Amino acid sequence: MENDTYILSCTNISKSYKMGATKLEVLKGVDMNVAKGEFIAIKGASGSGKSTLLHILGTLDRPDNGDVFYQGKNLNSFGAAKINEFRNKKIGFVFQFYHLLDELTVLQNVLLSPMVRTGTLGWLFGAGQAKKAAIKLLDDMGLSARIEHRPFQLSGGERQRVAIARALINEPDVILADEPTGNLDSETGNDILRVFEKLNSAGQTIIMVTHDDRIAAKAQRIIRLTDGKIASA
Ligand SMILES: Nc1ncnc2c1ncn2[C@@H]1O[C@H](COP(=O)(O)OP(=O)(O)O)[C@@H](O)[C@H]1O
Ligand SMILES: [Mg+2]
Repeated sequence: MENDTYILSCTNISKSYKMGATKLEVLKGVDMNVAKGEFIAIKGASGSGKSTLLHILGTLDRPDNGDVFYQGKNLNSFGAAKINEFRNKKIGFVFQFYHLLDELTVLQNVLLSPMVRTGTLGWLFGAGQAKKAAIKLLDDMGLSARIEHRPFQLSGGERQRVAIARALINEPDVILADEPTGNLDSETGNDILRVFEKLNSAGQTIIMVTHDDRIAAKAQRIIRLTDGKIASA
């Protein structure tokens, strides 16, 4: 199939880190295709390059070689502003340690990205609508009684649900989640997985990194990263 039949794909991705005199080759030619609506788990041992690959797919990091395509368009051909716009609009990130801002309320955390995206003038006109959408998302996440809380006042599971609402606010094409249950007890982790499963049933494309077989088994497709390459696709 051609690249443009996929929402996100990459070809021949390599990435290494120089550590003094030694070169650590983390990714050695990774090819991956993600179709719309898929729920994919990227599995691999700790240090196998899962986060590195996820960051490259989400343009948080650049590969040494290889290309990332969004709907068949090579992101290498995008300028910096267009890359930022792509990341902000089309990708939603969820991290292991939530990455919420404790200085802001739950609602403000969810609203931060649309605020940045629209700029001051756009925000004057769009704030009401964005706020409505954020409140709806937080309600969907069972957090309607927490919107004025600060993240540090919440449990781990609640924080991760705020992070998921934040990831969803711009209606991204793809959610990239890096060990989203890694900091949670197993029951809370299962609750978060159910949130992802429900989103996926509604059509959301999700790529989730995990080192846990049990968690990976919840995805429709498992991609295993070994020795810097995809072992099975
Ligand atoms: N910025 C960096 N500088 C040097 N080494 C790094 C950097 N980021 C990651 N690494 C190394 O690359 C390897 C893969 O890292 P990572 O992608 O975080 O693995 P995983 O998410 O699978 O645990 C690890 O050995 C890690 O120490
Ligand atoms: Mg990692």
